Amino acid sequence: MCGIVGYNGKNSVTDQLLDSLELLEYRGYDSAGLATLNGETGKVKLRKCAGRVTDLRKICHNDKKISTCGIGHTRWATHGGVSDLNAHPHRCGDVLLVHNGIVENYEELKDHFLLHKELKSQTDTEVVAAVLNRFYNGDPHEAIKRTVKYLKGTFALVVMFVDQPDVIYAIRNVSPIVAAYNDNGTMLASDVVALGATAKEYIVIPEYVITELHREEIKMFDLAGRQIHPEFIKIDWDTTQGGKGKYPFYMEKEIMEQPDALKATMEQRITDGKIDLSSDGIPDEVLCGCERICVVACGTAMHAGLVAKALVQSKLNMHMTVEYASEFMYEDPVIDEKTLVLAISQSGETIDTLEALKYARSKGAKSIAVINVKGSSIARESDYVMYTVAGPEIAVASTKAYTTQLIALFLLVGRMAKARGIFDDAAEKEYLENLIQAPGKMQEVLTRKHDIHKIAREMLDAKDAFMIGRGLDYSILLEGALKLKEISYIHTEAYASGELKHGTIALITENTPVVATVTQEKLKDKELSNIREVQSRGASVVLLVREDFDLADAEYADVFTLPAMSDEFMVFPASAALQLLAYYVSMDKGLDVDKPRNLAKVVTVE
Ligand code: F6R
Repeated sequence: MCGIVGYNGKNSVTDQLLDSLELLEYRGYDSAGLATLNGETGKVKLRKCAGRVTDLRKICHNDKKISTCGIGHTRWATHGGVSDLNAHPHRCGDVLLVHNGIVENYEELKDHFLLHKELKSQTDTEVVAAVLNRFYNGDPHEAIKRTVKYLKGTFALVVMFVDQPDVIYAIRNVSPIVAAYNDNGTMLASDVVALGATAKEYIVIPEYVITELHREEIKMFDLAGRQIHPEFIKIDWDTTQGGKGKYPFYMEKEIMEQPDALKATMEQRITDGKIDLSSDGIPDEVLCGCERICVVACGTAMHAGLVAKALVQSKLNMHMTVEYASEFMYEDPVIDEKTLVLAISQSGETIDTLEALKYARSKGAKSIAVINVKGSSIARESDYVMYTVAGPEIAVASTKAYTTQLIALFLLVGRMAKARGIFDDAAEKEYLENLIQAPGKMQEVLTRKHDIHKIAREMLDAKDAFMIGRGLDYSILLEGALKLKEISYIHTEAYASGELKHGTIALITENTPVVATVTQEKLKDKELSNIREVQSRGASVVLLVREDFDLADAEYADVFTLPAMSDEFMVFPASAALQLLAYYVSMDKGLDVDKPRNLAKVVTVE
């Protein structure tokens, strides 16, 4: 978590850092800070505070904007509470440091280097700054090398030494840092979105490589001192897409972008009316050679895996498990060279997913990653990658990343069915015809967003809510419930509706809000009778129902009809409706939709 940035160039560094930090705030937003170094006077300015980047902007307001070299940080607290003192950068002697990650042995290091008296904060980061300062005698490389030998855990460190005012140094283990040239200098950051609109390509800084950011060049050295030249990756999305455009929140913009993102993810993988994964370089042998599939992912990405599981089992008749990546290794998973592991992740940096993938590969499994951020750690660690074409997703609550992950997974399953001889040309054609309709069906829901807004207004005072459905509806609702709880703070539980009467129905009382989806032909009668059971106990039911289903004359608190598609594909219109519902509840409650409390977009700590 945490966003870090460094800039060395012609522009006023304070403005550049503040702008980049604002773009990185989705990674953490407890506190923010920056340090600048004036090359001519050698003067250091350190500004930091608990709060948002807007608060930092206020305290930097009167600063003279002459420095051209600096580092910045936006924090998601791990060690030490949210306070001005614990905010980064940390200064120890000649060292100014920002850090993303967790240094697990920081207590040991305090004892080993007898640092207790000189530390002011409770952070692991300040310990690293103090160790660096201990080792610093004018040679930054030597100090960095000696320090990282002692560090256990994950870290992206960006450092300035006060007597080296024209260079920023960086080194990392696991936690990402990317670097780029732009029109006015050089930059590094946790993520490509912060690199500025003029950067056309970027480098992912390799692990344990010392990077020097000069005003006009970026130099990298391995720990043996050899210069290395990593490959540049083209930025083929518009980083200015990072703005909110005409929308009040990124989340709404990202929800509305979905039809285009779905099309873009699909189009490059369809040739002459057939699914073609050749641009992903995934050979049919991999798709045919596996006997079982295992998804490792977290949160929303894991929910995409659950939808894929239903598809794999129904279309491929194959065994598939979907695991929380954070639990995967503790369950003694049965993984071997006949297992195909799918690692699904928007950021490509979720540490639990990364670790689970590494573990599966160590057991001989082949792997395909479904990733949004190019060149990210999980993408690099996997045998094959299918990139979703969602563009930058900034709102913490994932929307377009989820539905583009679904598109990639539908394409993958379709190609597997063809390669394994389960689909003939006609079956493939029918499957694709359905999939191609998904963006349009989502659009139909999005254009009726005001109807969902009206439904949302009825839920503003709810303390608890339930979402019920069976089969694929249940998987869809697990994601719908996560969306509602994370941004509206309404405690929401998705429940398999057939399970309710084994206990949970005790929680249904007069006016308990229950959102039910009924989208599956083969399940609708059972689902509707489960709905009647909760209604009989007083629940206020919001029904999201496929337009071609007959509801007889039953009454509901609210009904929203979903455009009809074949069962498996209903996840697309239903998800759009659930995303909008969560969005409007959060917005109307006056919450910060894009930055819900306690969360961060990229979870790089276990
Ligand atoms: C919820 C959400 C999270 C992420 C999860 C995994 O809206 O966004 O649950 O899905 O943290 O993140 P990635 O996909 O980056 O691995």
